[in-house]
Order: sequence, then structure tokens, then C-alpha cells
Amino acid sequence: MTLIKPHGGDLVGRVLTGEPRQALIDALQTCPSVTLKPWEVADFEMIATGALSPLLGFMGHSDYKSTLCDMRLADGLPWTIPVTLRVEERPRADRFALRNSDGVLLGAIEVSDVFKGDRAEEARAIYRTEDTNHPGVQRLLDSGGYVVGGKIWLVDRVHPAFPELALDPGDTRAAFAKREWRTIVGFQTRNPVHRAHEYIQKAALETVDGLLLHPLVGETKDDDIPASIRVRSYRALLDNYYPEGRVLLAAFPAAMRYAGPREAVFHAIARKNYGCSHFIVGRDHAGVGSYYGSYDAQKIFDRFIPEELGIKPIFFEHSFFCRACNGMASQKTCPHSTDSHIALSGTHVRELLRAGEFPPPEFSRPEVAKVLIEGLRWNDA
Ligand code: ADX
Repeated sequence: MTLIKPHGGDLVGRVLTGEPRQALIDALQTCPSVTLKPWEVADFEMIATGALSPLLGFMGHSDYKSTLCDMRLADGLPWTIPVTLRVEERPRADRFALRNSDGVLLGAIEVSDVFKGDRAEEARAIYRTEDTNHPGVQRLLDSGGYVVGGKIWLVDRVHPAFPELALDPGDTRAAFAKREWRTIVGFQTRNPVHRAHEYIQKAALETVDGLLLHPLVGETKDDDIPASIRVRSYRALLDNYYPEGRVLLAAFPAAMRYAGPREAVFHAIARKNYGCSHFIVGRDHAGVGSYYGSYDAQKIFDRFIPEELGIKPIFFEHSFFCRACNGMASQKTCPHSTDSHIALSGTHVRELLRAGEFPPPEFSRPEVAKVLIEGLRWNDA
């Protein structure tokens, strides 16, 4: 039984153990350090564990340029999001120790490339805007102007926020093989799983062996519901509404970029590395505000031939509960007018939950809402 191959063919592994690890730690004592921002720590670990295969390190100039201009790595492989290490001043060493903000030594970068990365150009290419109200653009503009490219090695990992959900690509692949799943659909989310999410997951699950529920647990914008609360809500949902043997819940360590269409492809490629054969892309995937059209994140997949992506996107239209159908539906399956549809904005739902009120059960399972209300009450206190 074979699972899908990682992007580029081989699963990257840049985690050092044993003697080579100790030798590098010793050598790094005399090297200058770069302090990684939280999202760079996440990217660093994902490179090291193969989640961003075939990347062996932070991007150099040719991959960066080609990602921006052609949505491909320099060798032609599809790739849509720059994975870069940005610093304020031009670095002057060939090797840097990489540390987190607590000063913990995480690993090293062997510098092969230093260049000025035009932030406005990157914002336009990746986010389709230079508007600083866009959280991804704001973060980019807050980052340094110099980009440092080169292969990395990991010597230590920060303690993951959800240790039991911290499965690397090698771990999820082993779990799928053990369960004898061959076709697996990956589901990205930065939100609690509401009825619309559940509906599209289960619709996809009807045709494949298993579901990887893969919530993003890296940095998100302030008004998104924190991962610590979401994780409890996923468990409440799975315990009550999903068959035990068909779902694997694991954490996706990345930070949100809110890059809409380009991030949808990036999310799909990463899930391919985790072993997924299929990936769900619904309405306004990885979107924020109104920077992207509702289905731009689906249309972008037309820019690639299916074989070069490997993982198959499964597209869903905007889904909702229809009172007249008395069930979940979309425009594709429901003949009734919007008067019958239950539509609540994310902002409104968060307001309800913060006020301790349950959204309608047609929007959110009560077990999920209960966990969210309790979590937010505690979090806001
Ligand atoms: S995202 O930023 O991680 O994409 P979210 O967690 O809301 O945000 O969405 C997870 C996935 O579900 C995405 O593929 C998104 O397009 C899809 N999705 C969310 N809500 C709906 C909906 N009502 N109908 C169809 N797809 C949806």
C-alpha cells in the first residue's frame, strides 16, 4: 500500500540527533545568532520535519523570485508562498545560530544567499494588496528588508503547545499506513468546526478512506479564536459526531498568512507532505476581509496541471443550513431562496459566544458552542 509521494519526491529531514547534533551545538557557540519570530520558528520546524518538502532551508534569491513571479520554485515545481528569513541588517557571516525569543538554541542556517527583498513587491504578488490593514501585509512590512537564504539544521524544538497533536509528516504517514488508509482528505482550519465545515468534511469523507483534521495552531490574527480553545472544541465535535476510526486529529504548526488563493495551494502542498491525497478548498479559503473573491482560492488551481501538484483539491461552494430543505446544502443542491438559509458572519458568531449565547444548532453543534463559550469566558477574564 503506497501513500502519495512528498512534493518533489522525497520527505526532507533536517533534524540532527546524536553526535552530529552535539558537534553542531558546540560549533554554534562561537557563531552569531539570529532570533526567529514565532512564525519563523514554525517555518523552521516545518522545513526540518519535511512539511515543506522539497525546501531544505529558508529560500534563496532564485526560489524567492520564481515563487513571486511564476508560483514555482526555480526548478519549476509549483510553490506559491515565500518561506523566508528576514533580518533588519545585512548579515556578515556564513553560519548563524537560530534561537527563539527566549534565547533557546534551535538550530543553524548555512547562509548561501543574502539579498534585499522588496516588501511592497512581495505584498502585491502574494497578498494582492499593499494595504496595511491586511494582517499578512502588516507582518511583512514589520519584518526586515534583508532576506537570508540557506539550508538549515534543527538541533532542538520548543515544547509544542499540544504535544499529543504534534505529529510530523513522518508520523501522520505512519498513522495512515497503520490504519490502512490510502486516500486521505486534509482539512485546513483556523476556526472552530461549525456545521458548514462538518458538512464539507463529511461529504469528502464519503469518497475517501480517512480525514486528517489539521487545524492550524501557529500565529493567527488577534480576533481569531485561540488554538487552545479550538482544540478542545474539535475534541468535543469528534467525540459526538464522527466515527472514531475515520478521523485523525493533528496540529498544523504554521502561522496564518491570510494570503487567500496562494495560501490555499501552499496549504495543499504541505498536506501532501503529511500524506494526504486530497485537500478541501471551500469558500474564501485563507481569506480575510474582502481582498479575494469567494472562489479565487479554487480558481488558482487551474494554473497548475494536476500531476505536478499531485494532491487533488476538492472544491465546495458556500454551504449553509436550509430550513426548507431541513438540512445542510449549497446553491448546488438547494432550490430555496436565501430567506430559508441560516447565514451568520464569523464576527457575529464570535460576539454571540463571547456574550455566552449559543448560536443556533443549525450553525454550530451545541457541544462545540459550549466549549467555546467556556473557553472564551476564561480567556477574556
Ligand atoms: S481558513 O482560513 O482556514 O481557510 P476556515 O477555518 O473558516 O478558514 O475554513 C476552513 C475551510 O473551510 C476552508 O477550505 C474554507 O474555504 C472552508 N469553508 C469555511 N466556511 C465555509 C462555508 N460556509 N462553506 C463552504 N466552505 C467553507
